[in-house]
Amino acid sequence: MLTSPVMPKVQAVVLAAGKGTRLKSSRAKVLHPALGLPLLEHVLRAIAPLEALPVTVVVGFEAEAVERAFAGRNLVFVRQDPPLGTGHALQVARDRWAAHPDRTLLVLNGDLPLLRSQTVHRLLEVHARSRAAATLLSIVLGEPGAYGRVVRDGKGRVAKIVEAKDASPEERGLREINAGVYAFEVPRLLEVLGQLRPQNAQGEYYLTDLVGLLAAAGHPVEAVAAAEPSEAFGVNSRGELATASRLLRVRRLEALMAAGVAVEDPETTTVGLDAEVAADAVLRPFTLIEGRTQVAAGASVGPFARLVDSEIGVDAQVLDHCLLRECVVEAGASIGPFAHIRPGSRIGAKARVGNFVELKKTLLGAGSKAPHLSYVGDTTVGPGVNIGAGTITCNYDGVSKYPTHIEAGAFVGSNSTLVAPVTVGAGAYVGAGSVITRDVPPDALGVGRARQLIKEGWARLRRERTKPAGHQG
Ligand code: UD1
Ligand code: MG
Repeated sequence: MLTSPVMPKVQAVVLAAGKGTRLKSSRAKVLHPALGLPLLEHVLRAIAPLEALPVTVVVGFEAEAVERAFAGRNLVFVRQDPPLGTGHALQVARDRWAAHPDRTLLVLNGDLPLLRSQTVHRLLEVHARSRAAATLLSIVLGEPGAYGRVVRDGKGRVAKIVEAKDASPEERGLREINAGVYAFEVPRLLEVLGQLRPQNAQGEYYLTDLVGLLAAAGHPVEAVAAAEPSEAFGVNSRGELATASRLLRVRRLEALMAAGVAVEDPETTTVGLDAEVAADAVLRPFTLIEGRTQVAAGASVGPFARLVDSEIGVDAQVLDHCLLRECVVEAGASIGPFAHIRPGSRIGAKARVGNFVELKKTLLGAGSKAPHLSYVGDTTVGPGVNIGAGTITCNYDGVSKYPTHIEAGAFVGSNSTLVAPVTVGAGAYVGAGSVITRDVPPDALGVGRARQLIKEGWARLRRERTKPAGHQG
């Protein structure tokens, strides 16, 4: 992405040490999810297209949990303990960024899940072109709330940032806010970094004071407006977390609809950022598509369905009230209503899983059917098999799990119990109500149930015997 000649060489620091006091949580703020991904993940994705060095992440509150959640990534963690403010966070990471004085330093708050990479890119471009000492992302808001205000001088140049808590009533009336994304020239930054003082309403070292210090030293500071107001949305409370999720959700659905996906009710539909939905797939109301799920063209999902890390084939249907996790549904198959498909399952082409059926680690062959009220687990079902209502595989003896095999074209009568390990051979029948403990050979009939008795006249005799005394009929 960094091919344009005006783009500077970059290094990035993400500030993620804050407790997120306003969330009232024992978990670090940046680990809280918005649309299924931690806040920090969103910020890392926004800067991922940059050809930067490993990103420095400043961690403090619940540092180990943050480091664990992001282990194995191209990141270097720096501990800020205790966190004394955003300026202090930049100070503790100083050894990392000061080592590359030729690279523009991109600093981002870790709580900006709506920031887009295009905007970061534009900020860096403007920064390089203007040769400013610092450039910040700003946005004009109708209600600037608790954000830091951008204060400009008589000539319209950025003079400083004032935190809302420290602002005069006049300053609080300013509507241009600081989004929490900055580009700095390292030599200029080093000139003023040591001058930060925690003399403010929060007793913290404010990164934002660096802007005023640079401007006062005669170094130009620029501001770039975010393309879309929501990009500057910083998450500090549970309410804002929910708002961020909603904004991300709407943005995602709009992109999908623009690409040809039929979303019947965007108000109640969620599609995660790592899920893929093809054009001409239909998402019915109250549907959640999560994780790495893929939905192919012509497939229909919902209403009230939840898919997690699953693959739905062309023209397949997932009907009302289904939960599918880590499974594959092949082309033209139909699931539900009210089905639960658990990890490791694969539903073959044109197969059918009906209501109140649970499958676990089960391969259902092409065209096979389990239409009603069954539990089928650790089972391989061949093609063209019918599994009658109420069939249960007993795959677990309290200690171990065992497999069941139901071969091609077999017919399992209703309310059968298949005690694993067991095989029902190709083309075989299992009589309804059987408890099958031994293999049924191909083309055989397996019946395992008490033989039916008929006692002629028994009911009549019983009625006569139990007639109350003195009753005249
Ligand atoms: C900050 C800005 C404010 C801006 C707003 C945008 C400051 C002083 N204020 O306010 O001007 O309008 O973001 O959303 O920077 N953090 C640390 N170490 C600390 C404190 C915070 O790493 O000691 C991290 C937090 O984890 C968070 C980020 O820095 O990711 C911003 O901190 P936060 O407390 O959310 O600052 P705001 O009050 O939102
Ligand atoms: Mg914040």
